Amino acid sequence: MTSYLEHKNQHLSRSTGDIAPPLRTLVIYYSRTGTTAKLAEALVEALEAELAEIRCDLYRPGIFRYLRAGYDSVRIKLPPIRFPPMVPRDYDLVLIGGPVWTSYPALPLRSFLAHPPGLPPRIGLFLTYGGHSDPVVAFETMAASLSQPVTERLAVKAQHVVDGSYVKAARAFAEALTREYRDGFKV
Ligand SMILES: Cc1cc2nc3c(=O)[nH]c(=O)nc-3n(C[C@H](O)[C@H](O)[C@H](O)COP(=O)(O)O)c2cc1C
Repeated sequence: MTSYLEHKNQHLSRSTGDIAPPLRTLVIYYSRTGTTAKLAEALVEALEAELAEIRCDLYRPGIFRYLRAGYDSVRIKLPPIRFPPMVPRDYDLVLIGGPVWTSYPALPLRSFLAHPPGLPPRIGLFLTYGGHSDPVVAFETMAASLSQPVTERLAVKAQHVVDGSYVKAARAFAEALTREYRDGFKV
């Protein structure tokens, strides 16, 4: 038998009074230069989640790759990606995130969303962005690719990853998600 202290993720369900099993979360992300990776890792830590990286070699750091990313993004030229052999539908919750490119989700993220693996009913989205455009269009684009309704969204400016305040935002997001799970994920 496990104690509450052993599983800080385990909660009393308000609706049934039963002990809810720990929330099983998978955090899926793409990151070109490491900013979104840090946010993804903070979410993993806060939710005791597992991590799955979408990989794409085309836009690895460098000025020419940056320019190509922008050029391809405007033309919506979806690149090949790699995804680890994980089964997202086996989780209670999947969080999907990446950077904003030319106001839209980064292309590797769009490749993933164009042919997503089976996903559970509960999806959350997160984005990092430079701040010269509003992330709302990118969120709407991601949500439109999914059959599940998406209510949970977290956007963090790259400068807040640099100054460290993203950790607080990630924890608050994780706490809200855990609370919703404990209450039966009712919207
Ligand atoms: C090709 C490209 C286009 C971008 N376009 C935008 C944009 O339209 N709006 C914005 O706020 N930031 C934009 N950014 C900035 C990134 O969203 C931001 O730096 C992000 O945090 C990088 O995340 P990463 O390190 O995980 O790749 C762009 C970055 C790249 C590489």
